[in-house]
Amino acid sequence: MSEVMKIGIAGVGTVGAETIRVLKENAALLTARTGRPIEVVAVSARYRGRDRGVDLSEIDWVDNALDLAARDDIEVVVELIGGSEGIAKDLVEAALGAGKSVVTANKALVAHHGAALGRTAEKHDVVLAYESAVAGGIPIIKTLREGLSANRVERVYGILNGTCNYILTVMRETGRPFADVLVDAQELGYAEADPAFDIDGVDAAHKLAILSAIAFGSEIDFDAVDIEGIRHVSPIDLEFAEELGYRIKLLGIAERTASGVQQRVRPCMVPKAAQIAQVDGVFNAVAAEGSSVGSTLSYGRGAGGGPTASAVIADLVDIGAGRRTPVFGVPGSALKVSAAAPIDSLVGSYYLRLTVFDRPGVLADLTAVFRDEQVSVEAMIQRGRDPNELVPVVLITHETEEAAIRRSVTKINKLRSVTEEPRILRIEAI
Ligand code: HSE
Repeated sequence: MSEVMKIGIAGVGTVGAETIRVLKENAALLTARTGRPIEVVAVSARYRGRDRGVDLSEIDWVDNALDLAARDDIEVVVELIGGSEGIAKDLVEAALGAGKSVVTANKALVAHHGAALGRTAEKHDVVLAYESAVAGGIPIIKTLREGLSANRVERVYGILNGTCNYILTVMRETGRPFADVLVDAQELGYAEADPAFDIDGVDAAHKLAILSAIAFGSEIDFDAVDIEGIRHVSPIDLEFAEELGYRIKLLGIAERTASGVQQRVRPCMVPKAAQIAQVDGVFNAVAAEGSSVGSTLSYGRGAGGGPTASAVIADLVDIGAGRRTPVFGVPGSALKVSAAAPIDSLVGSYYLRLTVFDRPGVLADLTAVFRDEQVSVEAMIQRGRDPNELVPVVLITHETEEAAIRRSVTKINKLRSVTEEPRILRIEAI
């Protein structure tokens, strides 16, 4: 190991450029914290000519990112390319295989291949670090893996996608529909041009699967995450939520249940007074509930050059200083393969919004379904009176099994007086 920690960076977009800038600007304090200087010796990116706002003239340009893994002088490869397959995966595998530590911001890669990559890192006695992959600048990996290591974690949950949180916040504040606000989010650079991973909950699910593996000491299991995005949330649901004392948030939740770990990403209702309900705009927040510590909440920016570079560099400092923790908190051989608890067995209260014709007998039809499915209704709102026209009816249930709600909705959908697919939101006890 040389005195200087030489690194190569693959992907010089907003995060890569900011990482290079901060490494230079804070060189003295980073050297003091690491115990050795960190030097970027090579970079690789798709387009060479682009002005990135940082001076790359003294850094080698490498056309093929894989060459970073082959260079003898490079101790750590920083992967900022993204994507669960292709060049990002090839590079990380090659670098670990060549005995280099890797810092990655790639949540899709870690969520899909983290177990295998972690084993490769262990085998070659190097580090795979991914603080920046979850919740950007919030140091939640370190918090969960090291700061809370005394605890048996019962539940970890959070707002893990800033784009969705921004969209839901603006919809609530302005009453504008989802599609309009999505365009704003794209124009502001929050959502990708193809925003599906954000708004369909996949990005949050990648992050949740990583948190869950650390929290429960289990093999990462992205396929077990039950995922629903926010496309179907409408301003009327946000309005009803306000009226009922709730906020709608896209939450990723992983919790221990009697039948295993349950992981879900869903828009859900949380009490307005809950701390997480106050997290608005592009901000992220992650709560962890531990046996000794109780509840903790970490809050901050989940994306963007500065926050993500902050986490990338924190990983580099740890590696440079020789601080090591097993990739998911325990050695790969100690990771459990946990049973995935089925979503159907969840118990809780639910919000249902139905669009029905305003005429006698409709409620009797609905309540007959709930009677047959043993679903108990706590409250009902029908706003307005419009004989024979369509009106929204909102029901809040008492605690019930998710499976019963699903069966009820299937039956309700077949009633002639119900004209639209019922909207269901779980009310999370937070
Ligand atoms: N697209 C993500 C978000 C940030 O909107 O939070 C990167 O994971």
